[in-house]
Amino acid sequence: MLESDPFNIVEGMIIAAFAIGAGHGFYYIRAEYPLAIKRIQNALAQCRKAGLLGRNIMGSGWDFDMEVRLGAGAFVCGEETALIRSIEGERGQPKVRPPYPTVKGLWGKPTCINNVETFANISAIINYGGEWFANQGTADSGGTKVFALAGNVKHTGLVEVPLGTPLSKVVFNIGGGVKDDKALKAIQTGGPAGGFIPASQSEMEVDFGPLSKAGSIMGSGGMIVLSEDDCMVDLSKFYLSFTQEESCGKCTPCREGTTRMLEILEKITSGRAVLEDLDKLERLARLCQQTALCGLGRAAPNPVLSSLKNFRDEYREHIVEKKCKAKKCVALIRYQIDPETCIGCTVCARNCPVECISGQRKTAHLIDQERCVKCGQCFEVCRFDAVERV
Ligand SMILES: Cc1cc2nc3c(=O)[nH]c(=O)nc-3n(C[C@H](O)[C@H](O)[C@H](O)COP(=O)(O)O)c2cc1C
Ligand code: SF4
Ligand code: SF4
Ligand code: SF4
Repeated sequence: MLESDPFNIVEGMIIAAFAIGAGHGFYYIRAEYPLAIKRIQNALAQCRKAGLLGRNIMGSGWDFDMEVRLGAGAFVCGEETALIRSIEGERGQPKVRPPYPTVKGLWGKPTCINNVETFANISAIINYGGEWFANQGTADSGGTKVFALAGNVKHTGLVEVPLGTPLSKVVFNIGGGVKDDKALKAIQTGGPAGGFIPASQSEMEVDFGPLSKAGSIMGSGGMIVLSEDDCMVDLSKFYLSFTQEESCGKCTPCREGTTRMLEILEKITSGRAVLEDLDKLERLARLCQQTALCGLGRAAPNPVLSSLKNFRDEYREHIVEKKCKAKKCVALIRYQIDPETCIGCTVCARNCPVECISGQRKTAHLIDQERCVKCGQCFEVCRFDAVERV
């Protein structure tokens, strides 16, 4: 939105500022989005020139201007109190609320913080009316929502749908269905701190209430399609490793909780866990969810809790049978060559980074399991499907 329709956001912010009597506005944009920064700065300059920003806007006697502040890429700086501190030039860490920013925000002044999508709606609501907007979505949430559709789906990209659209419609009608026509396993919504919605609930309407009831969030609008080829334990570990790394460390439940949870997930995916670890993982996740200071720590356990709830058998399989059915957990898989199928072309041996494949030309090759680092290169390069991942 910042890149393709910057004036819409500028207009929304000017109207919002006028409504609350604000004198100054900020765009907090991560430095990794130079195009968004350039387009907003360009839009602001044009508005200043046209008298839509600055002193005595259109002769109204009202002064208002805006500027862009760059974020250095910390996820937690999206949390409103951390964002305020970051703009103030302090370390971007959340603060206890209350007081809320609307009472005591930037430099102690009442501050309205909203998402770009919220500001983008304002001019349309004024142009077409509140009733028109409310009719677009559900009884609880009006309007549309943009999702970044990705993962194992045929067509990826940004998708805008009215709130209340079934998840299945986004995945199958818009996204064209699961890649390679595999079975849908789950849909992960809300970014790294979102939860997994199992395929059995894919008729769910996208809205804040149903998503949170299912253990997920709307969050940043990420929508990742997962197929039968995805491992829920491995994915939970992947998402948690992100939030663990992004934890600002201010409060114990999140700083220590995400680290200990990640350790347990690493134990499970490497075949070193026992069943009691599942109870520990669940207890820690709930503790973090209920007691962390900000939204990052409170949402970080979502992938863990939703996968434990809906895919617990997969966790048990990793622990008891030391098996990863989706063959994603490297420690639980191995590569072997079928001597009946191998024609001895030597391609795998020449591509193996640790030179652990032996065999003469035109004879079956063999992998030295002790030395194999499970990089999967042989599996990728064999044109005769002789390398098996088991
Ligand atoms: C850890 C964390 C990261 C966040 N990141 C963003 C973000 O990148 N962009 C954003 O608009 N809101 C982000 N938010 C939400 C904002 O803090 C804020 O609640 C939201 O932008 C309010 O706008 P709205 O009421 O218009 O939705 C984040 C929240 C948390 C807890
Ligand atoms: S929940 Fe995590 S990110 Fe939020 S204040 Fe606590 S340690 Fe920092
Ligand atoms: S690439 Fe395949 S066919 Fe060729 S030697 Fe290796 S396993 Fe055998
Ligand atoms: S998985 Fe990698 S390390 Fe192992 S045999 Fe194949 S190419 Fe070599």
